Amino acid sequence: MVKNINPFVVSGKIAPEYFCDRVKEAADLEKSIHNQMNVVLTSPRRMGKTSLVDFVFDKPEIKDEYVTVSVDILHTTTFREFILAFGTAVFDNVATRSVKLRKQFVTFLKSLSASFGYDTIQNMPTFDVKLGDVQNPEYTLAEIFGYLEKVDKRCIVVIDEFQQITRYPEKNVEALLRTHIQKLSNTNFVFSGSQRRLMEEMFFSSKRPFFQSAKSLRLEPIAYDVYLDFATRNFREAGKGLASEAFAHVYEVFMGVTVARTIGLYHRSAKGTALRHPCRKTGARHHFHGIQQEIPFAFAKFKPIGCPQTA
Ligand SMILES: Nc1ncnc2c1ncn2[C@@H]1O[C@H](COP(=O)(O)OP(=O)(O)OP(=O)(O)O)[C@@H](O)[C@H]1O
Ligand SMILES: [Mg+2]
Repeated sequence: MVKNINPFVVSGKIAPEYFCDRVKEAADLEKSIHNQMNVVLTSPRRMGKTSLVDFVFDKPEIKDEYVTVSVDILHTTTFREFILAFGTAVFDNVATRSVKLRKQFVTFLKSLSASFGYDTIQNMPTFDVKLGDVQNPEYTLAEIFGYLEKVDKRCIVVIDEFQQITRYPEKNVEALLRTHIQKLSNTNFVFSGSQRRLMEEMFFSSKRPFFQSAKSLRLEPIAYDVYLDFATRNFREAGKGLASEAFAHVYEVFMGVTVARTIGLYHRSAKGTALRHPCRKTGARHHFHGIQQEIPFAFAKFKPIGCPQTA
C-alpha cells in the first residue's frame, strides 16, 4: 500500500536525501570554512540560506572538526537583545557540549554570572539570563568572544539576518563587532541576510567597517531541470506522479523560490493525490488560496494570480 506522505520536507532540517542540488554552493561554503574565511551569504527570502548552512554544518567533515553556533537575529531590535540572543546561542551550542565547557562559560562571562541559574540535580549552571541582566553589552560581547577563543575546536558562528544590526538604535555596533571579529583567531563567521541592499552596503561599501571582510556567496533559484529531476524522483519514491506541466506551472509562479515548500504544500493540500494539471482540476483555486495563506510573502513578491493559465 502506498503511504500518503509528502515527498518534500516542509519544516525543520532537511535530510541529505531530500536536499536538492546546491552542490557548488555547499562546496564553496565548506572550502571557505576550511580556509578560515568569513562568508557573507545573501539571497532573497526562502531561497535556502538556512538550509544550505544546516546541510554543510551537518556534514561529518564539519561536524567532527568544528563547533558550530547558529543565531537568528531577525527579531532583535537593540544591541542588548543581540547580546542575549548571541549569549544564549553560544551557551546552547557550545557550553552544553561538556561539563568543562559549561564551567568555563560561567568563568568567562563574569558580567552575567550573577544571573546564571543552577540545576541542583545535574549539579550544573544553567543559562537563565534575562534581557535586564545584560547591563553592559559591550563588555559581555568581549567576554563571549574571549570564551570562543578558548574552545578546543575552531568555532563557526552563523548570524542569520545580519543586516538587522544596522537597525539598532546604538550607532557603533557595526564597528564594534568588526573590531572584535578581525582579532579572533579561533572563530569564523557566516553572515547571512535576505536584505540584499543592506547586506551589500555593509560588505561592499568602502565606508563601512565590514568592507571586504568576507567572501560573498549568493544563492540563486535552483535550476529548473535540476529541480524537476529532484521533484519527479521524490514523487515517484512516494508512489505518486508529477506532471511536468504542473511542475512548470509552480516553478513559474514562484520563480524557483520555495519550490520545495510550495510543491509540498500544494501536494498536501491536494490530499495526497497525484499532482497533475493544477488549473484544470476542480478546486485548484482553493489549493492556491491555501498556499497563499501559508506563505503570503511569496505571493506579495511575485504576484501570482488566483488560478493562472498553464501553457
Ligand atoms: N536545497 C534544498 N532542497 C530542498 N528543499 C529546500 C532546499 N533549500 C531550501 N529548501 C526548502 O525551502 C524552504 C526555504 O528554505 P530556507 O528556510 O533555508 O530559506 P532561507 O533563505 O533561509 O529563508 P529566510 O529568508 O526566510 O530565512 C524550506 O522549507 C526548505 O525546506
Ligand atoms: Mg533563513
